[in-house]
Amino acid sequence: MRSIKSIAIATALCASVAAPAQAAEDFKVGLILPFSGVYGGLGGEIARAFELGLEVFGGEVNGRKIVLVKEDTEGKPNTGLAKTKKLIHSDKVDVLVGPVSSGVLAAMRDTVHNSQTPFVIANAGHDGISGSKCSPWFVRTSFSNRQIVRPMGQWMYDQGHRNIYLMAPDYAAGHQMMGHFKAGFEAAGGKIIGEEYPPLQGTKDYAPYLAKVKAAKPDALFVFFAGGAAIQFVKSFGDFNIGKDIPLTGAGWLTSPLYIKKQGEGANNIIGSANYVTTIDNAANKQFHAAFKAKHDRGGSEFGVQGYDSARVIVEALQAVNGNTSDKAAFMDAIRNVSFDGPRGKLRFDPINGNIIQHIYVYKNVKKEGVIGPEVYDIIKDVKVPSDGCNS
Ligand code: BEZ
Repeated sequence: MRSIKSIAIATALCASVAAPAQAAEDFKVGLILPFSGVYGGLGGEIARAFELGLEVFGGEVNGRKIVLVKEDTEGKPNTGLAKTKKLIHSDKVDVLVGPVSSGVLAAMRDTVHNSQTPFVIANAGHDGISGSKCSPWFVRTSFSNRQIVRPMGQWMYDQGHRNIYLMAPDYAAGHQMMGHFKAGFEAAGGKIIGEEYPPLQGTKDYAPYLAKVKAAKPDALFVFFAGGAAIQFVKSFGDFNIGKDIPLTGAGWLTSPLYIKKQGEGANNIIGSANYVTTIDNAANKQFHAAFKAKHDRGGSEFGVQGYDSARVIVEALQAVNGNTSDKAAFMDAIRNVSFDGPRGKLRFDPINGNIIQHIYVYKNVKKEGVIGPEVYDIIKDVKVPSDGCNS
C-alpha cells in the first residue's frame, strides 16, 4: 500500500506539471493623500513623485509587481480615517504612504498601529508620532513639525528680532509649529506679542488678520501656511503692502517651488526654514530633478522629494526581504533600517522614533532676472527630534 505521504507527493507533482506557475502576488501600496481641498496640490505632487520613484528604483521585486491604490483624504480627519480602514481591511494593502495633514495623521494613528500596518509618512509632521504617540509601524521620510521650526526661534533672535507676531491655520500642525517656534524664541529671550489662527479650509481673505499684525508693529511676522492657504496668504500679504516694515518669515512651505510662481511679488524677501531646497548640490538631487523634469517639464519640490524618497525606502526594504512580506514585523524592520544617499543627502531614520534625521535650510527669496526664488542663508545640520515619551 502506498503511504499517504507518497500519494500526497505524487499529487503535488502532477499539480505542478498540469497547472501553470502561479504569478507572485502584487505588492499593494495604499497612497492615502489629499487629492482635493486646500492640500490637494501637495498630495498630487507626492503621488507623482512616488510614481517616478518606482520608475527609477524599480516597480517590481522578486516577481512582485508594486501596484498603487489611491484614496483621497480631502485633508479631512474623518474621511482620512474611513479611507485608511478601507485600504487596510478591504484592499489589504501591504504598506500605506501619506498623509499630508497632521490632523489626518492623528486620526488614523490608532487604526494603523492596532492593525500592524507598515506606514511611511510622506508629509504630515504631527509631533506626537515621534513622541508619546509613536509606534513601531511608522517611519517618517518628511519631518516632524518641531524639526522645521524650533531651530528658527534661536535663529530669529540671533538676527536681532525681539518682538514677533505669529499666524497659522487653526489645526494641529498650526498650533504645534507656532508652539515650538515660541518655545525656542522665548528661551532665547524674545517675546511673542500676538497670535492669529484663521480656519484651515476656506479662508480667502487674510486682510482682517494682517490689519491686527500691522497695528501691533512687530519686528517680524512668523507664520506656517502651505498649499492653497499659502498661495492665498502670500498674495494677501503682498496686497497689504506691509513687507517693508514687517518682514515675513516662516516655515518654508510658505513659498514652495510648487507654487511660488502663483504668489507674485509678495513672495520676494520671505525668509523660511525647510527640509529641502532645490539647489542642494549632490548627484542624487541632480538625478531627481532631471528625471522629474523629463516627465513633468518642471523641477520637483520638497513634497516631491518626500514622495520619491518614500518609494525608494519601500523598494529597498522589499528587496531586503526578497519580496517576502508575510512577516510584517521583519518587513517593518527592513523599512526602518533603510539608509541611502538621496536628494537631501544621507537619508536615515532615528532608531527610536522612526523620524528622519536631516539638515534644516534657512533661505531667503530673492529676485534675479525677474524670477523670485530661494537662496540658502544658513544650514542647521543633522536635526533630530527628541523621542519624548516614545519607547517603541
Ligand atoms: C501638516 O499638517 O503636518 C503639514 C501640512 C502641510 C505642510 C506641512 C505640514
